Amino acid sequence: MSAVLEVRDLHITYASSSGLVPAVRGVDLEIAPGETLGLAGESGCGKSTLAMALLRLVPPSTQITGSIKLAGQDILTMKPGQLRAARWAQASVVFQGAQHVLNPVRRIGRQIDEAIEAHGSASVSRAGELLDLVGLGARRGDDYPHELSGGQKQRSLIAMALACDPLLLIADEPTTALDVMVQAQILQLLDNIKRERGLSMLFITHDLSVLSHTADRVAVMYAGRIIEVGAGDALLRNSLHPYSKALTASFPIIGDPSSRHQPRGLAGDPPDPNNLPSGCPFHPRCTVAIDECQSVDVQLRHAADDEERSVACVLVGKS
Ligand SMILES: Nc1ncnc2c1ncn2[C@@H]1O[C@H](COP(=O)(O)OP(=O)(O)OP(=O)(O)O)[C@@H](O)[C@H]1O
Ligand code: SF4
Ligand SMILES: [Mg+2]
Repeated sequence: MSAVLEVRDLHITYASSSGLVPAVRGVDLEIAPGETLGLAGESGCGKSTLAMALLRLVPPSTQITGSIKLAGQDILTMKPGQLRAARWAQASVVFQGAQHVLNPVRRIGRQIDEAIEAHGSASVSRAGELLDLVGLGARRGDDYPHELSGGQKQRSLIAMALACDPLLLIADEPTTALDVMVQAQILQLLDNIKRERGLSMLFITHDLSVLSHTADRVAVMYAGRIIEVGAGDALLRNSLHPYSKALTASFPIIGDPSSRHQPRGLAGDPPDPNNLPSGCPFHPRCTVAIDECQSVDVQLRHAADDEERSVACVLVGKS
């Protein structure tokens, strides 16, 4: 079956007052129908930039090259009208702390219907059905945003994102601002919806333990590139890239008694996109780096003993 999302050689460069910021530097990825791809990495590695660019929701001065095909259509060459139609109807976004997106003086149900009217042609209210779907209950459609808790607001935003039956839901840290119990409920909700509707999902998080429940495949980003990608469980339990290893060691895998319970921090910080180290950008923090890491142009390549795994490290594949 053809991919819902297919990204090839994507480069995204912001134009800021201090110069060009190469935030995403050559990303390839695809998401199959009904598949969830988890995208992980530390703060600043380019996750949100990649997510927003998928619907061209980046500042107009941003340079984007490569291709982004959503249901076979290239987002980067779409005219504004086509792009407006693709947003919500083909892909929609739920992001962290997005509650301020809700209009404080309009009832929740009305806001959901307005989203449908603005992007589709529905003449019958679907707000009640969607609020039921996200477990809020149709009658909460009469509430104003201030009458809802953080978790309930996030549920209504998920309802809104599903209003036009998108093929792909992009969830950028959708639970980070919520407490642990509510986080778990929202994750369960997203998983149920994905299964019931056959939705594809790009699930972005800096918390790898969240992905052990939600992701079919996981991609790890560092300094604007994907440095490891593979089947979710296999990657989380046995990551091969030294950065992914450090990242997975930092988070206990929920429900796995053999996993670490003492999160172990990763030393140092990710590089500034304006001042990237030569060679492998992870080399200043890598505990197993060899001399050639300072100059080698590391590319993703298949790992020897796992067909689904690709890794960008000179040591992977060497004995
Ligand atoms: N509008 C912008 N103009 C210039 N630089 C930007 C802009 N937005 C983000 N950046 C820079 O691009 C890089 C990637 O940022 P991005 O927000 O994509 O990271 P992230 O992986 O989502 O991080 P986080 O986990 O903190 O959300 C960072 O260095 C950031 O400072
Ligand atoms: S290429 Fe070298 S520096 Fe980069 S992750 Fe592999 S061993 Fe470490
Ligand atoms: Mg982000």
